[in-house]
Amino acid sequence: MSGPGGGRWTAADARERFDHWSSTYEQSLFWKHYFVPLHEMMVARAGDVGGLSVLDLGCGTGDLLRRFARAGASRLVGADVSEGMLEVARGLSRDLDYIEYVHTSAESVPVGAGEFDLVTTCIAFHHFPDPAGALKDAVRALKPGGRLMLCDLDGAGLPGRIFLAFGRWKRADERYFDTGSISRMLAEAGFADVSAERVRLFPPTMLAEAIVQKGQTLLHNAD
Ligand SMILES: C[S@@+](CC[C@H](N)C(=O)[O-])C[C@H]1O[C@@H](n2cnc3c(N)ncnc32)[C@H](O)[C@@H]1O
Repeated sequence: MSGPGGGRWTAADARERFDHWSSTYEQSLFWKHYFVPLHEMMVARAGDVGGLSVLDLGCGTGDLLRRFARAGASRLVGADVSEGMLEVARGLSRDLDYIEYVHTSAESVPVGAGEFDLVTTCIAFHHFPDPAGALKDAVRALKPGGRLMLCDLDGAGLPGRIFLAFGRWKRADERYFDTGSISRMLAEAGFADVSAERVRLFPPTMLAEAIVQKGQTLLHNAD
């Protein structure tokens, strides 16, 4: 995967792009008509989050975490490579100061093993330089029985291929999975009860969900 300088795309390249975008991120029509409905859908799908701990990978401006906080989650951590996005997130979360924001790449979040009930990621996974590593780390961060909700662009079918081609032309790091490939990756990372479905036609978007079983947590924690 090539970055702007022709080398491998890194978290630093994504950081630069999102630092630039951060101040206007929540002002676009795309925000209002795409990201907000996805966040609403994820919170609705999560069900009762009262008292749960939530880790959001690639949290951006923190909107999803604020929604989980208002739904009753008691410990919330957002991880992102962009300080610009995190600065906006911290500002918007002033009245919810128990949400913690961490500047880090998704595959090396500095949290202990088995700390979270729910790990989420929304329209960020396709930027992660090491997607399999991020899933493995999510297994590590989750408690036995903990759940992952992964929402991202879906590269399947004609709309997916068009989006993927456009994304690759504009930004070298974009690599979209589809419901089949993401399900396989989740199973390989050690998740069980994997399901994945398309939740939106345009842009083509999928939601994958999976659970960590006790044995898997122990396996990864021993790595
Ligand atoms: C399109 S934004 C989505 C933000 C947020 N999840 C939302 O739904 O509004 C993608 C986010 O992923 C972050 N990101 C990109 N690569 C990352 C990485 N390797 N680790 C953590 N975050 C990353 C970006 O900085 C950006 O904030």
